[in-house]
Amino acid sequence: MNKTAVVILAAGEGTRMKSSLPKVLHNVCGRPMIGWVIESIMALRPYGTYIVVGHQADLVKEKSARKEIVFVEQKKQLGSGHALMQAEQKLKHFHGSILVLCADTPLIRTETLSVLLNFHSREKNAATVLSVINDNPFGYGRIIRSPSGQVEKIVEEKDASREIKKIKEINSGIYCFESPLVWDALKNIKAENAKKEYYLTDAVDILNRQGNKVGGCTICGANEVMGVNSRVELASAEKAKRFEILEKLMISGVTIIDPSNTYISADAAIGGDTVILPGTTIEGKTVIGSNCRIGPFAFVSDAKIGNFVQVRSSYIYDSEIGNESQIGPFSHIRPGTIIKTGVKVGNFSEIKKSTLEDGSKVNHLTYIGDATVGKKVNIGAGTITCNYDGVKKHKTIIGDRSFIGSNVNFVAPVEIGSDAVIGAGSTITDDVPSKALAIARARQVNKIRK
Ligand code: UD1
Ligand code: CA
Repeated sequence: MNKTAVVILAAGEGTRMKSSLPKVLHNVCGRPMIGWVIESIMALRPYGTYIVVGHQADLVKEKSARKEIVFVEQKKQLGSGHALMQAEQKLKHFHGSILVLCADTPLIRTETLSVLLNFHSREKNAATVLSVINDNPFGYGRIIRSPSGQVEKIVEEKDASREIKKIKEINSGIYCFESPLVWDALKNIKAENAKKEYYLTDAVDILNRQGNKVGGCTICGANEVMGVNSRVELASAEKAKRFEILEKLMISGVTIIDPSNTYISADAAIGGDTVILPGTTIEGKTVIGSNCRIGPFAFVSDAKIGNFVQVRSSYIYDSEIGNESQIGPFSHIRPGTIIKTGVKVGNFSEIKKSTLEDGSKVNHLTYIGDATVGKKVNIGAGTITCNYDGVKKHKTIIGDRSFIGSNVNFVAPVEIGSDAVIGAGSTITDDVPSKALAIARARQVNKIRK
């Protein structure tokens, strides 16, 4: 294979997205589109990677910065051909192939790019276009082949006659060009078309007319080179990417009951024999062990979950859940929480920035915030930590094996020893020593009715 440099075109505004965010920064399965494209080329270990930025350049740079990447600026967005021209200064002395991609094709795979590069060098082409047969070619540039099968030119939808619009072979927007040959061809592009833009696709016609060989490398599967121009296409790309992620997990031994109703980030890791039930979203760098049951309707974000854990209809953010623990239904585990082994957090219980040691139970209608709860503690229904005095947060500490009756208020800061018992309905404002029984409520009076 020839020596390869990569240029990613990402300067366009993406007007059809109707967004204040540049198109290439819209997320597909939790990652900006451009991030997926960058990832697809990294395994090729290119000689150099250049990204052409323009519209909101600083933001695009910030979100796609990596040490391997050099940015070049396209001050005015005059078209994809003009965009590639901006890389000339960096690459005019480069002898080899230039792989050009658009940042709006987030489904492209490294394997396909390798196929294109191999085809290009095997055929000794001056340029090779990656094409696909698409039953719904609307919006894409159409490939015009010569009788011998070479690619003669590419005609954009807006410039196409009725006959040309019937052609189903489309331009993926991914190409291989020989450098330095391409730089000269680009100089001949004219903005004489419906959009008054310098089309990169015109380089094909120009190279042909200069007597060079231009080929088309056709792949199966139109999905992979789907260009995202609108939010409708964004949703299609999201769906396709989502299935790809879920398929990998299923192949690795995770059961996903209803893939059309399950949302898992590409950065999540899930162990074997774990079952993901419908309506579940798993975000960020969540790690889930084996033999868990997650869902239905669980939302888990950047959490670390052990083995044999159950999470039903609950929210978990930035927290750790130990082996054999059970969360939900309807629990809210907020950031900074560490739940150890065999813990139960049940209905309408909220835990924030707290540690629950092995075997403790917080089963019903409870708020535990900024607390440390020892082992085998039972927290009765309706108990809350009053952790906030309006200005500062304070800690509640509860020792091992203590039994907290229902509807207790812990006015923090407060510390309960181990093996203590707190009477139901108590408002605890003072520390309770180990093995003590604390009751802090008014005694009941029964009076004769008049
Ligand atoms: C382009 C191709 C079309 C192909 C399709 C595949 C051209 C003229 N047409 O059309 O044949 O079928 O992709 O998805 O290239 N860009 C810049 N600077 C600009 C203009 C565009 O960097 O001045 C970048 C965009 O950010 C984008 C890429 O070039 O990543 C393609 O531009 P876009 O407007 O999406 O082209 P399409 O109309 O989709
Ligand atoms: Ca596009």
